[in-house]
Amino acid sequence: MTTPGIEALSFFTPRRYVHLNELATHHGIDPAKFSRGIGQEKIALPNADEDIVTMAAEAALPIVERVGVESIDTVLFATETGIDQSKAAAIYVHRLLGLSPNCRCVELKQACYSATAALQMAASYVARKPSRKVLVIASDVARYDLGSSGEATQGAGAVAILVSSEPKIAEIGTESGLYTEDCMDFWRPNHRRTPLFDGKASTLRYLNALVEAWKDYQANGGLDYDAFSRFCFHVPFSRMGEKANSHLAKANGQKQNPDHVLPSLIYNRQVGNCYSASLYLALISVLENDETDLTGKNIGLFSYGSGATGEFFDLRVQPGYAEHLFPEQHQSLLQDRDAIDYDGYITLWHEKDLTQGTQECASGRFRLTGIEDDKRIYVDQQA
Ligand code: HMG
Repeated sequence: MTTPGIEALSFFTPRRYVHLNELATHHGIDPAKFSRGIGQEKIALPNADEDIVTMAAEAALPIVERVGVESIDTVLFATETGIDQSKAAAIYVHRLLGLSPNCRCVELKQACYSATAALQMAASYVARKPSRKVLVIASDVARYDLGSSGEATQGAGAVAILVSSEPKIAEIGTESGLYTEDCMDFWRPNHRRTPLFDGKASTLRYLNALVEAWKDYQANGGLDYDAFSRFCFHVPFSRMGEKANSHLAKANGQKQNPDHVLPSLIYNRQVGNCYSASLYLALISVLENDETDLTGKNIGLFSYGSGATGEFFDLRVQPGYAEHLFPEQHQSLLQDRDAIDYDGYITLWHEKDLTQGTQECASGRFRLTGIEDDKRIYVDQQA
């Protein structure tokens, strides 16, 4: 039986960002607190005509252009920035990408964790139906209150993952370790635009879930610590990834190896937290930036969603994986962005979804052009 896995991987982030030095200057904070203490450089900011749908369609477009639409019969859309309580964001993306009408489209939620649930469901489905492919998309806007401790960890982006029985990039291991506890470390009631959270406690819940999920992974027959060449952790800010790396090493009686994690943090430092997409942005970062050939290597992934659920699982990198990535597109996406100053950031932060008259700004092909009668209008600018 073919082991299901990742056939293609792509990400998108908006064109505008504010540098954390701007925030540091405004708040009278040493910029090193953000660059070293938090480990972040930039916050990606969507314009009012960009949202989880446009970012998701942009992320998935290169994959659909490469593999075609014929075999994709499922879109699983992971987000905690939902735009509707009933209709799945996946349906808008389905139309923008021109997918077959004979397709199921669903939205999943559990804070930053839900893309991992989607990935595991996709792998199980593909194992049963090897001729089908599943598009897993994680897309989120991380927005915190101005002046809160989370402000420096904002960001936005989307990752698209094609799961199939042709795992050209990586096979998904069958074992995983799970951990759930009911805790209030970070949550966003329906009436709020920004989350409520206990920042310091959330980092402790995260590290606890990591160790508990790891123990369960071991109990289920997972690989030994020494079998891993790299780890990708959920990255709310890059220092958290470094802390997770050292915490896991310590739990295994080992000295931490920074090479295990640093290449996975390069893109996240530039984008900020993108919730459900953050772990998979870290995966793209290590695959596209690691100087070592990762062929045949095991990568351990830890997914965490506040509230809280954690999962540890593994991927096996396939020969020729680098030919199936999009490093040039991703690097130019990050380089060709527009920096905005503090005042521009505040304006964008307050801006809600487009209603009318907002200047066209979305950097890609897809735009939210308006909301009429509470119906969101998305256009493909090339149609
Ligand atoms: P804070 O109050 O901004 O920072 O909160 P701090 O005072 O704890 O300082 C942070 C670090 O900077 C410390 O290092 C300082 O020593 C250092 P550490 O002790 O951690 O090693 N520092 C400096 N370093 C160099 N030069 C300086 C300097 N000054 C201080 N001058 C906190 C940090 C994480 C609480 C905050 O960023 C926050 O509230 N973030 C939002 C919540 C969050 O991201 N939690 C992460 C775990 S939960 C999670 O990942 C889930 C999530 O993604 C949501 C979901 O699942 O949907 C958030």
